[in-house]
Amino acid sequence: MKYQKLNNGVEIPMLGLGVFRMEDEKVAYNSVRKAIDLGYRHIDTAKVYENEEPVGRAIRESGISREELFVTTKLWNEDIANDNAAKAFETSLKKLGLDYVDLYLVHWPIKDKYVSIWKEMEKIAQSGKARAVGVSNYQENHLQKIVDLRSLMPAVNQIELHPYLSQQPLVEFCTQHNIHVESWSPLCANKNNLLQEQSLNEIGEKYSKTAAQVVLRWNIERGLIVIPKSSNPIRQAENLDVFDFELTVEDMQLIDALNKDLRVGPHPDEVGF
Ligand SMILES: NC(=O)c1ccc[n+]([C@@H]2O[C@H](COP(=O)([O-])OP(=O)(O)OC[C@H]3O[C@@H](n4cnc5c(N)ncnc54)[C@H](OP(=O)(O)O)[C@@H]3O)[C@@H](O)[C@H]2O)c1
Repeated sequence: MKYQKLNNGVEIPMLGLGVFRMEDEKVAYNSVRKAIDLGYRHIDTAKVYENEEPVGRAIRESGISREELFVTTKLWNEDIANDNAAKAFETSLKKLGLDYVDLYLVHWPIKDKYVSIWKEMEKIAQSGKARAVGVSNYQENHLQKIVDLRSLMPAVNQIELHPYLSQQPLVEFCTQHNIHVESWSPLCANKNNLLQEQSLNEIGEKYSKTAAQVVLRWNIERGLIVIPKSSNPIRQAENLDVFDFELTVEDMQLIDALNKDLRVGPHPDEVGF
């Protein structure tokens, strides 16, 4: 596993397990337990995934000390709209059964709330119950409003990012402001035949790796934190096994060239929350 240091010094494992679409309690619990057994140390959940309780239980019962695990959860849109961050955060902690999270994110940019919600996040950071705070799905224009506050900078911006949506300008903006980027749906949610792409498979053959492993490695080599979801132990192990090979500059360029600004999720500026 590789780690990165966030802008407040907190270390984050560069690859974590995403647990979206694991509403089934048993699936969520077993997936997190198995992933931790395999060596995952970073789990990405959210209030809206409706699995904080089994995810937290799996973390507590994993046998791995809390300090070794990096846990993220997120503030959902209705709580942003209703200025309910403090209460929602406490509810998430309670459901997880944890004293603190490592990262708490504003899930989506909600119109007219960018600044007020960030001030609430600053208070949560000051409480010490979130080791780092950040945002998700923020575009440059949303981030700029936080930059202009000249106060606490988000540690992370978690955005949709895969070879069909490489997000280079937004990644550069974040890098300039020392905000780490996390890639969600890094495998394009296994849609649009990304993993059938010929170039990804040809690159994989050179290193005896799958297309999914090539895509995850491309993230790591761009310095991005990546959170693939799998509830299948074989694919969980496959996704974790990306730290023993390196892509060449030519490989990276071939993967970069797949970009077509194609989203599997909503565009943050068009989302009707
Ligand atoms: N902040 C946000 O707004 C936001 C939005 C979406 C997602 N996320 C986060 O990002 C995480 C990942 O995104 P995602 O779940 O949408 O998509 P993803 O990780 O790109 O893809 C998950 C899909 O790919 C399959 N898969 C996993 N590993 C594979 C492999 N090695 N080979 C082939 N198929 C594989 C999974 O099936 P199996 O489970 O059957 O393996 C699942 O169907 C989420 O779980 C969540 O934590 C955040």
